[in-house]
Amino acid sequence: MWKSLALPSGFTVDFMNMFGDGRLQEENVERELLTIGTKAELGMSKIRLTGKAKGHLSKDGTPEPVYFMQMPYIKKDNPNTVESINKLQRYSKYLRDKIDAVIFLGIGGSYLGNKVLFDILAGDFWNTDAEKRHGYPRVYFSGNNLDAVQCIEQASEIKRLAATGSSKKEQFTVMLVPISKSGTTLEPMSAFTYFYNEFAGSKTIKVEVTVVTDLCVDIKESPLLQLAEQRAWQCFDIKEGIGGRFSVFTDPGLVTLSAIGGDIEAFLCGARELDEYCKNAVSAENPALLNALLKYLVGRQGCDIEVFMGYSSKFKALGEWYVQLLAESLGKRHDRDGKLVNYGRTPVVAVGSTDMHAQTQQHQDGRRNKIIQFLEIADTGLKLKLSNPFKGNSFFESYKGLELDKALKIALAANEEALASDGRYSARYVLPRLNEYYLGQLLYFLMLSIAYEGELANVDAYDQPGVEAYKKIMKSKMW
Ligand code: PA5
Repeated sequence: MWKSLALPSGFTVDFMNMFGDGRLQEENVERELLTIGTKAELGMSKIRLTGKAKGHLSKDGTPEPVYFMQMPYIKKDNPNTVESINKLQRYSKYLRDKIDAVIFLGIGGSYLGNKVLFDILAGDFWNTDAEKRHGYPRVYFSGNNLDAVQCIEQASEIKRLAATGSSKKEQFTVMLVPISKSGTTLEPMSAFTYFYNEFAGSKTIKVEVTVVTDLCVDIKESPLLQLAEQRAWQCFDIKEGIGGRFSVFTDPGLVTLSAIGGDIEAFLCGARELDEYCKNAVSAENPALLNALLKYLVGRQGCDIEVFMGYSSKFKALGEWYVQLLAESLGKRHDRDGKLVNYGRTPVVAVGSTDMHAQTQQHQDGRRNKIIQFLEIADTGLKLKLSNPFKGNSFFESYKGLELDKALKIALAANEEALASDGRYSARYVLPRLNEYYLGQLLYFLMLSIAYEGELANVDAYDQPGVEAYKKIMKSKMW
């Protein structure tokens, strides 16, 4: 069994610190791999071949397919086709030529993946750096909360930009992009209503709309689709069998790549090659299966918290995306045979080295119920070597020559070593670089791992019945 695997792409997973005294034993893991691991692989093959996941039902209790494993493959009848990708490319050009600002309006699975793509590939200074944007619009996210202050401040910013003449044409043009599979979710729909109303009557702002929703739903049930049809708004599809948290490789996520001129093909290629690798590997070399199995086994020993600790400030949104993927997919009351299991791990977002000054005390000395999942970029592409502007000061003199990316790697290694010295669990993923291809590999790897763990734990990784309880109460109080 491989404790450390390097894929042909250079993406590496290192599970060494899951093993050792007081931690997992190799022979036990090998045994589990042969028994429950093999069963999980069969379950995954079945989903891949038939689009059917054992026991999975939609919210209204009818069987619902699971097609997320088809997403990386651009093929007729798949979630991505040649036509759908061409349409996204045309949309990208349209946004670059005509639109000054895009506001994406979505929540949960209709937001979190988009924010990951934006934060990692566009970054903090996209909206203020015209050179960086190469003509692409400014990009904002809203509708991911019931937050009046955020909405008002966002609208003011658009009005300010319009008033300062920062537009491509005579009028400042805003593209509102509500993303909602159901077309009825309160947070994005209320923000969309607010912005549309604010901008539609303005003399300085022109408002356009692109709707991203389930286009095959009964139109009577989707007020958003009704509006889109009446007003002939451009639409993108959230396809059947693609749940929110598994949707970033299709239109609802890819529209964000279109808005920033990201390389859609490279993103899908990363996912595709990762999928091929896992599909063809023997169990002991399948990184997604191993990742799932090790976490499942430590769960049996009482580890019910996973800290996702990416070493880059760009990884905060990624951690938040993973929180939803893990929590909604695996946090289940019953297994697929109806047995009470209360399964799952509580996901926590941490950023290295930032949270070494906040959370690490708890990771190192607190309850032994955590696994720390590290993520590292081997080469950030930007070097920063310090010189000393404070001559004569011996403290700052010692900083001279310090390279920040090397210091970050040392910080991660030190954190890992300290945890291991106390027999605590950690694992590490390493991405060679941060680009569309490797991001595709990582996001898809995490989705596959969660799907494998669903099979291992025999829970439905594709539903979220637990959110209905609060929704019912909220609805009764709201209207
Ligand atoms: O993963 C999920 O299914 C949820 O988080 C949904 O994405 C979220 O509730 C938003 O739903 P919708 O896209 O229907 O607005």
